[in-house]
Amino acid sequence: MYLKLLIALFFVSHLSAQEAAGKKVFETYCWGCHHQTSEAFGPPFTQIANKRTFEEIQAYIIDPESMYKAFGYKRTVMTKLKLTDQEREEIARYVLSYKGK
Ligand code: HEC
Repeated sequence: MYLKLLIALFFVSHLSAQEAAGKKVFETYCWGCHHQTSEAFGPPFTQIANKRTFEEIQAYIIDPESMYKAFGYKRTVMTKLKLTDQEREEIARYVLSYKGK
């Protein structure tokens, strides 16, 4: 009984901690060019989340230069960002949290 409650609480706090971490990466590295739900310099996260996977989002962050053609762009102006593996996973999850929004 209490154990179930504890487990549930753990998951809820774990999830929101992850979301907060992703948001921080977003504000630090992406916000100048991407917004969550509206078109900015780059496409909104809602649009990205509806057509890309966790792996594709990370691949684009690692090297836009080698990915832009496959993604249907004629050129790329996105900066090559130096994120840690963890930051990249957090931001990819954060982008995907806008799926269907
Ligand atoms: C200097 C501006 C800039 C920054 C900073 C930037 N982006 Fe981008 N991004 C763009 C633009 C513009 C595009 C459209 C294609 C291109 O130019 O590469 C794009 C494209 C993308 C795509 C591919 C879109 C698709 O078609 O699926 C992803 C994924 C992406 N950005 C994620 C991110 C994330 C996550 C961050 C932060 C870690 C980030 N970008 C930071 C400008 C930027």
